[in-house]
Amino acid sequence: MKRIFIEETPDKISESVKISGWVQTRRDHGKLIFIDLRDHSGLLQVVFAGQNAELWKIADKLRPEWVVSIEGLVKERPEKLKNSKIKTGNVELEAQNLEILNEAKTPPFEIGQKDNVGEELRMEYRYLDLRDPKMQKNLLKRSEAVRFFNNYLKDNKFVEIETPDLTKGTPEGAREFVVPSRKHPGKFYVLPQSPQQFKQLLMVSGFERYFQVARCFRDEDSRGDRQPEFTQLDIEMSFVDDGDVMDLVESMMVELVKKVFPDKKITNSPFPRIDYDEVMKKYNSDKPDLRGNKDDPAELSFLWVINMPLLEYSETEKKLVSSHHPFTAPSEALAEEGKPQDLGTIKAKAYDLVLNGYEIGGGSIRIHKRDLQNKIFEILGLGAKEIESRFGHMLRAFEYGAPPHGGIALGLDRLMMILMNESSIREVIAFPKTGDDRDLLMGAPTEVSEKQLKELHISAVKPKK
Ligand code: AMO
Repeated sequence: MKRIFIEETPDKISESVKISGWVQTRRDHGKLIFIDLRDHSGLLQVVFAGQNAELWKIADKLRPEWVVSIEGLVKERPEKLKNSKIKTGNVELEAQNLEILNEAKTPPFEIGQKDNVGEELRMEYRYLDLRDPKMQKNLLKRSEAVRFFNNYLKDNKFVEIETPDLTKGTPEGAREFVVPSRKHPGKFYVLPQSPQQFKQLLMVSGFERYFQVARCFRDEDSRGDRQPEFTQLDIEMSFVDDGDVMDLVESMMVELVKKVFPDKKITNSPFPRIDYDEVMKKYNSDKPDLRGNKDDPAELSFLWVINMPLLEYSETEKKLVSSHHPFTAPSEALAEEGKPQDLGTIKAKAYDLVLNGYEIGGGSIRIHKRDLQNKIFEILGLGAKEIESRFGHMLRAFEYGAPPHGGIALGLDRLMMILMNESSIREVIAFPKTGDDRDLLMGAPTEVSEKQLKELHISAVKPKK
């Protein structure tokens, strides 16, 4: 018999079916054994009656998390035994055949009780933790959201293009993860902090509308809304101005909420677009939480922060750095050579998308001319040699008919965290890292063998204890 999903059983009353899944609970009532069987689509009550002694004996062995296939008759439950809390609550399966596919040890924590389990233990046994209905829901919803974005953008003539992970650094303000090259002794690839340069180069290639669900790597301190590797919905468009990018993203977010999160409500629509200076003055934060009622889990309050400064003074680096990244276009022309200009007052054609007090996206209109890009690098204190070695390819590309372009990247993990009412992005990532960047399931990072190090022309210096 072909296996069906548990969610299909309410449509199969009086039919014989086969279901497969995990034993969630077992209750004995004298000669009756009740099993709640779980598959990815739902939960179903299965009854083993005492008349079939052979079957009853096997059912008696069942323990939570054992994997089984059960054939039986779908029956409508008597009115007073119907359970309106679950989708299959008006039916049950009268078991006729049971096959044990695999036994299971008692899990180190009770499945479905994630909030009462220490996070390190959850991470170590992540494959069990992901059986929690809340985690299942978070990842299913994430998949639905990605499917929505994919369809929405493709319907709007965007092309999905993958860009490399083994590449060269792109400045986004964090430290980089480096990968030693075996074939090029002493040289390293850098994992991208974002696909920024590649997506701009794709505009030079004439694709006009690009998107990618892109993995990004940043070696910075992790916290609830930050991971060393995370996912962006990355977008770039040609022949657009800042308003066009914001309009597109805004319509997309409104549609996402309508289609995938219909229980949510957006407070401010259209999303307010507020100057950075005003936001800072009014709320003393560049990501204010504008919800009317912060205790209402359904409320979503978006806002755009615009007109931020192009450059800011970095206390750690003791120099001017880009507020967004160095490819961002200034809102006004730079003064000519030798003319004075207060660089700190120049605004950027940049925009951040804020949701319920979190920055969920950031983007800008880009520089698309060589001279201006070169000038910005100089203002940032880069010498001619460094500009050539780090960004020569961008400057050259701009000489071959680069169109005006701009884009944005949305932090998919952060967005999902808010939409699923979670307080950490770890709850919406299948296999996240701990706060100190360890992968407790796989046991990473780890030492590698001397042989591997030798092949990579690397010697590891252990810190003194
Ligand atoms: P930015 O650096 O602002 O822009 O990143 C865009 C969005 O990515 C999310 N984000 C993170 N999420 C989880 N963990 C992290 N460590 C992390 N860092 C950032 C945030 C943020 O708003 N290339 C530009 C985009 C562009 O200009 O088009 C960029 O990466 O939600």
